[in-house]
Amino acid sequence: MQGERIPIGEVTLNVVIRGEGEPVLLAHGFPLDHSMWEAQINVLATEGYQVIAPDLRGFGASDPAQDKTTMAQFADDLSRLLAKLNVTTPVTFCGLSMGGYIAWQFFQRHRTRLARLILCDTRANDDDEKVARGRLVMAAEVERFGLDKVPDTMLPKLLAPVALEKNVAVVEALRASILRQDPAGVAAAQRGMAERQNVVDLLPTIDVPTLVLCGEADSITPPEVMKEIAAAIPAAEYVEIAGAGHMAPMERAVEANAAILNFLKST
Ligand code: MLT
Repeated sequence: MQGERIPIGEVTLNVVIRGEGEPVLLAHGFPLDHSMWEAQINVLATEGYQVIAPDLRGFGASDPAQDKTTMAQFADDLSRLLAKLNVTTPVTFCGLSMGGYIAWQFFQRHRTRLARLILCDTRANDDDEKVARGRLVMAAEVERFGLDKVPDTMLPKLLAPVALEKNVAVVEALRASILRQDPAGVAAAQRGMAERQNVVDLLPTIDVPTLVLCGEADSITPPEVMKEIAAAIPAAEYVEIAGAGHMAPMERAVEANAAILNFLKST
């Protein structure tokens, strides 16, 4: 989808903006860009929302990232983007996986800009030492060798087996999205994720209506993990998307959109 280049200070972000109404900010997962929300953008815009879907710093057609991008930096970028767009109405922040890690920071750092949270296939805990070390290894590898091998490693983790076998459109969209990312941006986000904050203690303080959405077959952030998040947030509802993996909004767009719209209209 065609976006606009919007300068927000030290970087310029590529942002797709569609529709008018209450703002919904879509924060993509790793190592992807706004295109993962393709099946949500027009549907939400048609239903009367202003959809703001940026490529995060270092991803898609946004400016490159340097060395490391922390989850707080991503959140601050998004707050600056809203200021630049003159969006003063508090937003529904919808983030998937890494987008969810950014949502926790957005809540802590820009609470007055937030009306609701939609947390898709994400987690609240930080990495153990082994996982964090693996991220640093991957960061160094993609900087050295590029992203060519990444789709074959990641697709079986991102998608439910049924989608991997049968949903050619989603498989190919994801593969193309991974391959067009800048290795420097991917490495920077990995280093940022490796040192992200554990926010488990923050969950009971979240005071906005929250939808926790999880693919039934998500192997990266499985339902057990997401049910715990929903149970710890006072005003949270949990919705499981049958048959979907980690990329539930792409794999089962109709069901995910129904859950998102139902939440937006009822809170
Ligand atoms: C994502 O989908 O954004 C990633 O699984 C996040 C992560 O690597 O923890």
